[in-house]
This record gives sequence, C-alpha cells and structure tokens, in this order.
Amino acid sequence: MTTTLITGANKGLGLEAARRLVAAGHTVYIGARNAERGRHAAERLGARFVQLDVTDDASVQAAAKTIEAEGGLDVLVNNAGIEVRGEHNAIPAAADTTADEMRTVFETNVVGVVRVTHAFLPLLQRSAAPVVVNVSSGLASLTRLSDPDSPAHFYPALAYPASKTALNMITVQYAKAFPEMRVNAVEPGFTATDLNGRTGTQTVEQGAEIIVRMARLGPDGPTGRYVDVDGSLPW
Ligand SMILES: NC(=O)c1ccc[n+]([C@@H]2O[C@H](COP(=O)([O-])OP(=O)(O)OC[C@H]3O[C@@H](n4cnc5c(N)ncnc54)[C@H](OP(=O)(O)O)[C@@H]3O)[C@@H](O)[C@H]2O)c1
Repeated sequence: MTTTLITGANKGLGLEAARRLVAAGHTVYIGARNAERGRHAAERLGARFVQLDVTDDASVQAAAKTIEAEGGLDVLVNNAGIEVRGEHNAIPAAADTTADEMRTVFETNVVGVVRVTHAFLPLLQRSAAPVVVNVSSGLASLTRLSDPDSPAHFYPALAYPASKTALNMITVQYAKAFPEMRVNAVEPGFTATDLNGRTGTQTVEQGAEIIVRMARLGPDGPTGRYVDVDGSLPW
C-alpha cells in the first residue's frame, strides 16, 4: 500500500479522491492551506493532515519535511486549483482578463504544482513505484478549444484554460525527465464543486474516478499521458 499526498484535499475532488484511497487501504495525507478545514477533513476520513499552501514556499518545505520524517511518499496528486469567476459565477471574458488575474491563477495552478513537485521529488525518488497525478482539465486541450464543433470551444476565459495547458506541458516534461515515475495529467470532467459554483453536471464520485485510477498506477502503467475516464484526450 502506498502513501499519497493530495493537495487541496479538504473539499471537492481532492477530498473524494482521498476518501477512496483511504477506503482502499492507502495512507493518505490531506494537504490543505487552512489547518482547521484540513484537520477536520482528515479526521472524518481517517487520513493524515499536513498544512500546505501551494503558493507558499515555507509551508511546502515544512510539509515535505514532515512527510519525510513520517516515512516518505509514493504518490503526489497535484489537485489544488482555482478558477477565477465574476459576479453571479460568470466566466470572465477574454476582454476583461487582467495581468493580475493571470498571475493569480498561474501562481496556484502552474507555479504551485512546480513548487510542490520540486519539494517532493527527493521523497518520490526514494519510492519503489513513484506516481504523480496532475489534475488538469478538458479545457486544457488546444485541439478542443480551437474546434468549433467541440462544446469546450465556447468557454471564453483566458487564465484557467491557459494554466491547465501549461500544466499539461509540465506533465510531459516531468514524464520525460523521470522515466522511473508515472507522471500523468487527468481531466475529471465537469463536476459540481465550489470551483464552478456547483454548476458541474457530474458528482464528485464520478469526477474523482480518474484521479484515483491514475494515483493507483503500478510501475508498468502509462506515463506522460492526458486522460479522462474513457482514455486519452487530444492535447
Ligand atoms: N470541478 C470541475 O468541474 C473540474 C473540472 C476539471 C478540473 N478540475 C480541477 O480539479 C481540481 C480540484 O478542484 P475542485 O473542483 O475539487 O474545486 P474545489 O472544491 O474548489 O477544491 C479546490 C481545492 O484546492 C484548494 N486550494 C486552492 N488554492 C490553494 C492553495 N494555494 N494551496 C492549497 N490548496 C489550495 C482549495 O482549498 P480551500 O478550501 O482552502 O479554498 C480546495 O481544497 C482543480 O485543480 C480543478 O482545476 C475541476
């Protein structure tokens, strides 16, 4: 059984993935920026808690030290993510997108992933079967967003999809750099969580399925892939 860290796991898809992995007998760390919310979630599930804000170097370094001291890490799920929405949950138009909004979204969804992965690489490299799951989005797909026949074509914002496209590239590059690791990007599907004002059409149980599946890959599993529950997606 593996030890898994899931960032942003105090609610939503991360919490459900944690619940499933604990139920399957894995040791799971709920990473959360808010200690109260994180501890509460971990206690409910029988998971461990580690304070971790993906935008904060000190908290990520401290989390890596804690997990190293408690026995190390096999699986890292980079799940923490944000999508900036406007009033009444409106998706921001390209014309309204500011540099500050881009910076905020990239700081969590892109820079945060590299910060956390970099800090945990030494631990993962000591695992017999290291795995990284990057929680991407269908909106990362350049193919889909540029195809007028795809429903994703009509998603207007800049920051969120661009950040997930960057995450996909990071996935490809890490997968090549660390062939001994399984490093994949996953699309959970449009899921009702706080991220989208609960407008998603899937349940968290459905959305977490691909996260859990890819977190449980063995050393012979695929790497450098971008997948949803039905298989590979177009980049
Ligand atoms: N829901 C969907 O339809 C959908 C579809 C495709 C991809 N995704 C991706 O799935 C992942 C999980 O999203 P979700 O839908 O479950 O949303 P959610 O319910 O809003 O959960 C997001 C989680 O990320 C945490 N987080 C945000 N910023 C953080 C930071 N700086 N440091 C640590 N944790 C932070 C949040 O913590 P707080 O509680 O402290 O805010 C929360 O635990 C995201 O990467 C999202 O982009 C979601």
